[in-house]
Amino acid sequence: MKVLVTGGDGLVGSHLVDRLFGDSHEVVVLDDFITGKPANLNPHSQNTLIRENLVNPLSDELTAISIERVYNLASPARTITDCTREPTPASP
Ligand SMILES: NC(=O)c1ccc[n+]([C@@H]2O[C@H](COP(=O)([O-])OP(=O)(O)OC[C@H]3O[C@@H](n4cnc5c(N)ncnc54)[C@H](O)[C@@H]3O)[C@@H](O)[C@H]2O)c1
Repeated sequence: MKVLVTGGDGLVGSHLVDRLFGDSHEVVVLDDFITGKPANLNPHSQNTLIRENLVNPLSDELTAISIERVYNLASPARTITDCTREPTPASP
C-alpha cells in the first residue's frame, strides 16, 4: 500500500514510518522539519521525502502520487511543549 505520513520525521511519525517500511509498504513522508531533524529520518524515506509545509497548497509532486492511506501527524506539538517549558517573555 502507498502511504503518506505527514510529520513523518517527528517522534510519533518516525516510529510509524519505520513500522510501515518494516511491513513493506511504500511510504511517502511530508515534513517541513519545523521541529523534526533530517537526521532522524528513516534512511529508506530519503527518496520519498517531500519537504513542504502542510498548510500550503499541495505541490504537483505530491498530487501526482496515488496515495491510498494518510496518517496525519504533522503538528507543532514539540514546539508547544517547548513554549510551555520556556515561555518567551512578552514584549514590553
Ligand atoms: N509525543 C506524544 O507522546 C504524543 C502523544 C499523543 C498524541 N500525540 C500527537 O501526535 C502528533 C505528533 O506528535 P509528535 O510528538 O510526533 O510531534 P513532533 O513535534 O515530534 O513531530 C511533528 C512533526 O511534524 C512536522 N510538522 C509540524 N508542522 C508541520 C507542517 N505544518 N507541515 C509539515 N510538517 C510539519 C515537524 O517538523 C515534526 O517532524 C501530534 O498531533 C501530537 O499531539 C503525541
